[in-house]
Amino acid sequence: MKIGTISLSSPFVIAPMAGMTDTAFRRLVKRQGGCGLVVTEMVSSEGLVRGIDRTLEYAEYTEEERPVSIQIFGGDPQKMAAAAQVVEAMGADIVDVNMGCPVPKIAKHDAGCSLMRQPEHAAEVISAMTKAVKIPVTVKMRAGWNDRARNAPELARIVQDAGAAAVTIHGRTAEQSYTGLADWDLVARVAENLSIPVLGSGDCIEPEQVIDRLKYTPENVASGFSRTNYRPISGVLVGRGVLRNPWILAQAADIAAGRAPREVTLSDRGQFLLEYIDMLLSERVAEAEGFRHVASASTAPARGRERWVINKLRALCTWYSKGQDGGSHLRVRINAATSISELRGIVNEFFSAPSLAGMS
Ligand SMILES: Cc1cc2nc3c(=O)[nH]c(=O)nc-3n(C[C@H](O)[C@H](O)[C@H](O)COP(=O)(O)O)c2cc1C
Repeated sequence: MKIGTISLSSPFVIAPMAGMTDTAFRRLVKRQGGCGLVVTEMVSSEGLVRGIDRTLEYAEYTEEERPVSIQIFGGDPQKMAAAAQVVEAMGADIVDVNMGCPVPKIAKHDAGCSLMRQPEHAAEVISAMTKAVKIPVTVKMRAGWNDRARNAPELARIVQDAGAAAVTIHGRTAEQSYTGLADWDLVARVAENLSIPVLGSGDCIEPEQVIDRLKYTPENVASGFSRTNYRPISGVLVGRGVLRNPWILAQAADIAAGRAPREVTLSDRGQFLLEYIDMLLSERVAEAEGFRHVASASTAPARGRERWVINKLRALCTWYSKGQDGGSHLRVRINAATSISELRGIVNEFFSAPSLAGMS
């Protein structure tokens, strides 16, 4: 699949997740294989343009993650265009626009999913950005604002006409937030009617589901498709499924290649967390020149590193422990950890302790 000039080796993508998909996590997932694109956590256009350290950090990525898409949010066309130029100057492959965030803090500033309620304004944002940069500009949106306004099909066409190189649809409305189910029929319908790649997002927990979403055809969705010119969904973004199982994209790629999905042992799961801890602790330490891409204004603020790493592990384990035998026990213990050595000890003990099986 190609997004503008950027070729993706696989149609499976790590979805952007604020607070979760930092550069270390993305690298670790990418190393397992099967991942064609990574998207950063959403980054404020305002913060990028003003050079705010925290914002610039969210946009950092490393060479091994390529191709990389940096997602930005905002509602002012000129600021979004300027932010896209910062993203381009950082060397990112793609700049993605968040039109899906339902959180009031974001949506009340004409940003995130609010843009879906103002299609003409959304078109102005995309048009200003595509004029300002050479890299592809893409959009991630929801099904619509609410059930009375499921306008993703119209808006997707509008942003395509404004120059967007690809569109992702998370098939829920802003009002639904994360309740109910993502509407993949809607994603397929958008794909049918656009000439740019359309990717879908929502509710893939098992690798087989990732494959099923790509196989949507006129036969297995509701009526209304022209069968001769059917254009399939081009790719699948996996969010919470990757937080639960970082191997899901690799397993989907196995299935797509006709192989059995690789088995992930308890010890693999423990090793993943230990590596994540090590990577978070050593971020920016002893990296080869050119490895990490930061905006020129970034001053690399030092943070209370251990506390930050513990909080990161707590956040990940909320998802990582779901469906895991003894998962609630792991969550409780990690939430109570106060040092990195304690954290490592808990992980080592839990993931090498078959006796915990069945304790969830
Ligand atoms: C913790 C969390 C943070 C998220 N942050 C973002 C974000 O920054 N930008 C965005 O476009 N979507 C964000 N999303 C939405 C996901 O990218 C994805 O579209 C959604 O979770 C549905 O896919 P899933 O069922 O595979 O998780 C977030 C979702 C979660 C759970």
